[in-house]
Amino acid sequence: MSNEKIENMKVLVIGATGNVGTAVVQVLNKKNVPYRATVRNIEAAKELDEVRLVEFDYSNPETYQKAVEGIDRVFLLAPPLHPDAVGLVKPFIEFLKNETKINRIVYCGGMGLGKNPAMDVHERLSAYIKKNGFDYTILLPAFFAQNFKNFEYETSHNVE
Ligand SMILES: NC(=O)c1ccc[n+]([C@@H]2O[C@H](COP(=O)([O-])OP(=O)(O)OC[C@H]3O[C@@H](n4cnc5c(N)ncnc54)[C@H](OP(=O)(O)O)[C@@H]3O)[C@@H](O)[C@H]2O)c1
Repeated sequence: MSNEKIENMKVLVIGATGNVGTAVVQVLNKKNVPYRATVRNIEAAKELDEVRLVEFDYSNPETYQKAVEGIDRVFLLAPPLHPDAVGLVKPFIEFLKNETKINRIVYCGGMGLGKNPAMDVHERLSAYIKKNGFDYTILLPAFFAQNFKNFEYETSHNVE
């Protein structure tokens, strides 16, 4: 991809406070790619680059429009372990399709999770993105080593 194209695109990164979103934002910063990053609570995310933050919650469609202003592609992920992640994320995909000209989605899935019927969220959301005619990239990362620190360690040290 030419530098000219990179400079012209503006990416919306969903979930800037999380494992994946934090890393995506770091890379975009390094490459000088313009982006906006979503957080559910700006107050709680003050250590991030405030200028680029926008308040966004899948469960609140009123936050959608402001988040996508000037955006031409979306890095999309589903909150992990949400009891109805498909139902949570689908309305935003529908909004992108019906209310915007954004046609490019990079979706963060998970390797092999579709083999477990109880964890088919990524298969279902990937299929929905494809079915709706987006230009897409589906990422299939495996389990992150960071989980041992970010989740396992912190959870086990916060048990009462
Ligand atoms: N971790 C792994 O090992 C791994 C491996 C493969 C695939 N994946 C997949 O990668 C995806 C991201 O995982 P992760 O580890 O980065 O998760 P994470 O660290 O828990 O981050 C989730 C992000 O989603 C945001 N979020 C939660 N609920 C939201 C809502 N209602 N509206 C908008 N944003 C919301 C959170 O923001 P707040 O700060 O507001 O909570 C947070 O920034 C998941 O779908 C997971 O299945 C993860």
